[in-house]
Amino acid sequence: MQTLTQNTSTVVQDCLDHTLFPWAKQAGFKPLEIDYAQGVHFYTTDGKKYLDFSSQLINMNIGHGNAEILKAVTEQMQRFSFVTPASAYELKAELGKKLAAIAPGNLNKVFYTVGGAEANENAIKIARLVTGRHKIITLYQSYHGATYGAIALSGDPRKFPVDKSLMPHVVHIENPHFYRCPWGTTNEETCKEKALEQLERVIKYEGEENIAAILLEGESGTSGCLKYPKGYWKGVSAIAKKYGILTISDEVMSGFGRTGKWFGVENHGACPDIMTMAKGITGGYLPLGAVMVNDEIAAFFNHHVLPLGLTNAAHPVCLAAALAAIKVYETGGLLENATKMGDYIEQHLFEIQKHHPSVGDVRITGLLGCLELVKNKNTREPMAPFNAKAGEMEAMNKLSARLNESGLFTILRWNYLFVAPPLIINREAADHGLTIIDEALELTDKYCK
Ligand SMILES: Cc1ncc(COP(=O)(O)O)c(C=O)c1O
Repeated sequence: MQTLTQNTSTVVQDCLDHTLFPWAKQAGFKPLEIDYAQGVHFYTTDGKKYLDFSSQLINMNIGHGNAEILKAVTEQMQRFSFVTPASAYELKAELGKKLAAIAPGNLNKVFYTVGGAEANENAIKIARLVTGRHKIITLYQSYHGATYGAIALSGDPRKFPVDKSLMPHVVHIENPHFYRCPWGTTNEETCKEKALEQLERVIKYEGEENIAAILLEGESGTSGCLKYPKGYWKGVSAIAKKYGILTISDEVMSGFGRTGKWFGVENHGACPDIMTMAKGITGGYLPLGAVMVNDEIAAFFNHHVLPLGLTNAAHPVCLAAALAAIKVYETGGLLENATKMGDYIEQHLFEIQKHHPSVGDVRITGLLGCLELVKNKNTREPMAPFNAKAGEMEAMNKLSARLNESGLFTILRWNYLFVAPPLIINREAADHGLTIIDEALELTDKYCK
């Protein structure tokens, strides 16, 4: 048993005694004790109100406490809570049609999973089965989930603790991140060309006949919203086509209006062969993931067994939440609001960047964004390095504590401060959050050289 302080409530203490909390050393971990949540806010049991500037884990896209979801879920549970995923029923028919309508190109068939990681794992199984090849190419600065296969797909250092036993046959390449371009240019076009040249070289080195798929996030998320250069996604698609490789867009974070489009890849005029999704598919209300495949891939399984399945795939209650959430996105004009408020927030972040020496880069697409903090704008020395150790996080920890004190909840990772509020956010709430961030950045400015 670990005792935090004399003020720790019984609830928090019981949670600490009997729960392993994710991605954290358990000793000293201080979870917030949540009371309730509504709209873009949540409240802790000590009566404090927090503005949710990261939509929790960038999944509560339609905000908290939506009555439409509650109604749909309750009605579904009254009808039936669970039937085998091999069943057909009206809700499944409607949701399938809806997903096919909002997905780009000829992505018309869906295989449901329980979350994002399983969606990616099943997507690569599909790609391997269809192509008869085994290797998957992904980016170093990417995250695709925490299950064994998905963490191997991720270039993210969250994979290091399980490095010894990772799924084989994943090849990572450099990101075309032109703020810190690996090829030493700050020119977007050149960075893109160099990245595509590297991709094609790696395909040759690895053997084109061995590569099943290239998997990219539709729009980069927790790796720092590293914007793809214009034409990058299209360039990747063209190279993939040339070598008979499938493209998979991971839309787990960038899907469902987060970037102002239904799916992040649509910002790049490209259409993948396979798309994975989760998080916002139910507005974050219930766990659900999905893999959508194009007509050619779907046709392959007309005459080959689909060797995939999960007990809770296509859980009817989760499907009900998904159908209701999609209606909320549509009737609430949430994609339009994400674009409008994203532009508004972006302009304010640029202003903030001008008068804070610690704000090196501002990257936001719709409402998927982050600030990259630096110690020096010229050298771009990061405020905390890539994969920072606890001792290297002093400035960022101070910033985090200040934001918390001021009632702003968001994700901070290394030298990134994420700005990804629910898509229902209005100007008043956005201004409030931006003011808190603006004031708190004085703390990191003090670390600038
Ligand atoms: C791009 C991306 N893919 C996959 C995942 C994994 O999703 P889940 O945590 O639902 O398994 C995440 C989670 O943050 C993600 O951001």
